[in-house]
Amino acid sequence: MPLSGSGRSGGPVGFMDSGLGGLSVLREAIRLMPSEDFIYFGDSLNAPYGTKPVEEVCRLAFDSVEYLLGRGAKAITIACNTATAAAAAKLRAAYPELIIVGIEPAIKPAVLDSHGGRILVMATPNTLKQDKFLELMGQYADQAEIVPVPCAGLMEFVERGDLEGADLDDYFTDHLQPFLSEDTETIVLGCTHYPFLKQHLRRFLKGRDITLIDGSRGTAMELKRRLRVRGLLKEEDVKGHVEIVNSIPGEEIRATALRLLNLPYSVTQ
Ligand code: DGL
Repeated sequence: MPLSGSGRSGGPVGFMDSGLGGLSVLREAIRLMPSEDFIYFGDSLNAPYGTKPVEEVCRLAFDSVEYLLGRGAKAITIACNTATAAAAAKLRAAYPELIIVGIEPAIKPAVLDSHGGRILVMATPNTLKQDKFLELMGQYADQAEIVPVPCAGLMEFVERGDLEGADLDDYFTDHLQPFLSEDTETIVLGCTHYPFLKQHLRRFLKGRDITLIDGSRGTAMELKRRLRVRGLLKEEDVKGHVEIVNSIPGEEIRATALRLLNLPYSVTQ
């Protein structure tokens, strides 16, 4: 199925992530902008980004953006918290005219909705150590107790398509349980892979009244707003095209991507 339109004004919106996680953001964007065309590049071959040197993540992010622009993308969504922290500012400096929307851990809405309880932020070690995150956390430090929870190794479950099971329970027991206090009120899913683990995480939390929050909807809304302001939003009454590309060739990753995206219609690969 060919992508409709060509060049910057009529081309698709480009999405990028270190792998399949950014599909959680794409899913929201499709819900919000059903007429829009999208091309998603998942860099599963080079995943994970969350434990790589920041300079390398930055270089990989530039490669992904260049690929998407080569495919005629009219705007870019960095659907990866790690790559946003590492490269968004540099990408915006390199492409000042281009709409570049990034994602960051949803600390702001978590704090605004909080009632004084602890807020845990699950994210990659890279996201949590970068200035962008430390500044964000600093802005709200006097309003809530915000506790970073480094989750090296968690995105790999999603890349494998393992969204439940005993191994995942063991992971949460080892990496999350130590941070769960009586007064924990919210868990921010600060990596775009984690929303796919939400169901299992709820089971692990055994009915505890803890809000799980992520930035996918807010990011999709910001993308829509930016496209509309520039007159680039497609609003005709026709369904847009969605193309999924991955740096790992083959059927297996394609099948996992489609299962995660879970659209009621077919997409191109
Ligand atoms: N999905 C990415 C994020 O939002 C990171 C996963 C990884 O490559 O470590 O941070």
